[in-house]
Amino acid sequence: MSQLPTYGEVPGRPIGEMSRRGFMRRMLGVGVAILSVEFLAGTVNFLWPNVRSGLGGRLTIGTPAEIIANDPAWATGTPFAFNRARLFFLNVPAAKGLVDGSGASVTDPGEEVLALYRKCPHLGCQIPPLCDQSKWFECLCHGSKYTILGEKRAGPAPRGMDSFAVEVVEGAYVVDTSRIVGGPPEGTVTFDPRDTAAIPHCAG
Ligand code: FES
Repeated sequence: MSQLPTYGEVPGRPIGEMSRRGFMRRMLGVGVAILSVEFLAGTVNFLWPNVRSGLGGRLTIGTPAEIIANDPAWATGTPFAFNRARLFFLNVPAAKGLVDGSGASVTDPGEEVLALYRKCPHLGCQIPPLCDQSKWFECLCHGSKYTILGEKRAGPAPRGMDSFAVEVVEGAYVVDTSRIVGGPPEGTVTFDPRDTAAIPHCAG
């Protein structure tokens, strides 16, 4: 019987076994892939609220009766937070009554409404609901303060709160979020001239 020639042990690693360098390279690839997915997820998450809120389009807020059914305090002046469009919807005559103390209840303000954009015109922070003490909107980021009608009274903001165009369609308020109306210029005082130093505030 003939003997097969033998060449001894073949140097190098066995076929199918990964080198340390190969392993590290693969792990680096996996790490980069995970980071990419996280970055993508973060970006989508950042943009998603805008898509959901429908900013840029026309949104129906509702009839006065529907808004009051949702938030009865709207009839006595408390701004209605319409979160889909990130705005405060104001029943203007009732809001004035809330500030001057007349406590007027207005169940149908007609066209005397205001849709104030909650994005602060300073650096874009979201403006919180009306401050109970001052009855002003007060941005907690850098302390800009606006009356209930959005006129600027204090802080670094360059103007009053921006707003959206509103129209009444078959009795319901429809806000056009593609049309942002720039806030009133600094120094505008059509209502509530109270001195900022004379009243308590929510923001410093
Ligand atoms: S972002 Fe509102 S005061 Fe600066």
